[in-house]
Amino acid sequence: MSGAPGTLASLGGAPVRATFLPLARPSIGAREKQLVMETLESGWITTGPRTEELGRRIAALAGARHGLAVNSATGALHLALAALGVGPGDEVVTPAYTFVACVNVIEHVGARPVLADVEPGTLCLDPRAVERALSPRTKAVMPVDYGGQPCDHDAIGALARARGAAVVEDAAHALGARWRGRPVGSLADVTAFSFYATKNLTTGEGGAAVTDDDALAERMGLLSLHGMNRDAWKRYSDTGSWYYEVTAPGFKYNLSDVLAAIGLAQAERFEEMQRLRREHAARYDALLADVPEVRRPAAREGAVHAWHLYAVALELERLRCDRARFIQELRAENIGTSVHFIPIHYHPHFRGTLGGREGDFPVAEDAYRRAVTLPLFPDMTPRDVEDVVAAVRKVVGHYRR
Ligand SMILES: Cc1ncc(COP(=O)(O)O)c(C=O)c1O
Repeated sequence: MSGAPGTLASLGGAPVRATFLPLARPSIGAREKQLVMETLESGWITTGPRTEELGRRIAALAGARHGLAVNSATGALHLALAALGVGPGDEVVTPAYTFVACVNVIEHVGARPVLADVEPGTLCLDPRAVERALSPRTKAVMPVDYGGQPCDHDAIGALARARGAAVVEDAAHALGARWRGRPVGSLADVTAFSFYATKNLTTGEGGAAVTDDDALAERMGLLSLHGMNRDAWKRYSDTGSWYYEVTAPGFKYNLSDVLAAIGLAQAERFEEMQRLRREHAARYDALLADVPEVRRPAAREGAVHAWHLYAVALELERLRCDRARFIQELRAENIGTSVHFIPIHYHPHFRGTLGGREGDFPVAEDAYRRAVTLPLFPDMTPRDVEDVVAAVRKVVGHYRR
């Protein structure tokens, strides 16, 4: 396992860029600031009308009947499992190549995470691996739309349904994506989105759960705020009542209206921000086409990619360096990058609880050895993309076999 950051290396000469280009930077404009100021001045800064409105806007964007804006995608995933009644004795199938939030929330409801490998190329949950991972205990399948590209939701949904298992889709990366003409958000029993600072639509910290199921929506709303009945947030308003009842032990996953205001402004600009992401991704694709040492992201037929990440794979067989060195060299050229993801079974905690070993998930492990995520955010310029590619070419030129 390579990957621990080391000292900066430099290939000499001036860095490709004089200033650092981060992996991601939120696009915050005049409208975000205006709506935040209005909220601060409104006297209502916790969960309120703007959070409710953001939930509705996200549901509309995602083609779902109900939307609940909460404090994170992690919270949304946890609420989904809790509302579905997933608990001790149950299993939930999720990819070995994902962010830890998926596995953490499965453990938090007392269920057992069952890891399954991803498909080569798209790095989305592999339906064939899901089939092998299913058991009579499977209560839910939690696919991840890696980087913003939808999984094969028809295949995964059919496998889950045949077992009577629910699909809780982790679409933290995938607001705005579509699968066979249908928006991500209309494909699973519950879909979770993230509004973390780097995400395609951000509130700084935040997320949402969307669903078509009235009872699930009601239950997630209840559990998101201590288990108090749905309109409890109104209890200090002129239309509210001091009286509430708790019918289940809930969580504290509500979003603040100050952050929801940022999200409402982002929702207005979402299509434009997505267009810019697509343009930058297309420019990377074109400029990297003649760099055989770098494999570009795989496109799945039938999918509209949300382009949260531009994650490439290094052809290590053609290079005299490993991924960690490659990242150090890009950093020395003032290019920020990241790695999505460290396979779940490489983390000490999950090695302990799940017992996964090196070799258990060969596609995830191979992807990790090669993975480099390049900068991608709406406000970057075509020149920024060219700088990244120039830096990649410089590093590749130095380490080419
Ligand atoms: C695949 C995936 N799922 C879930 C999350 C958690 O999102 P949040 O930070 O909104 O809880 C992330 C965060 O980056 C993610 O990448």
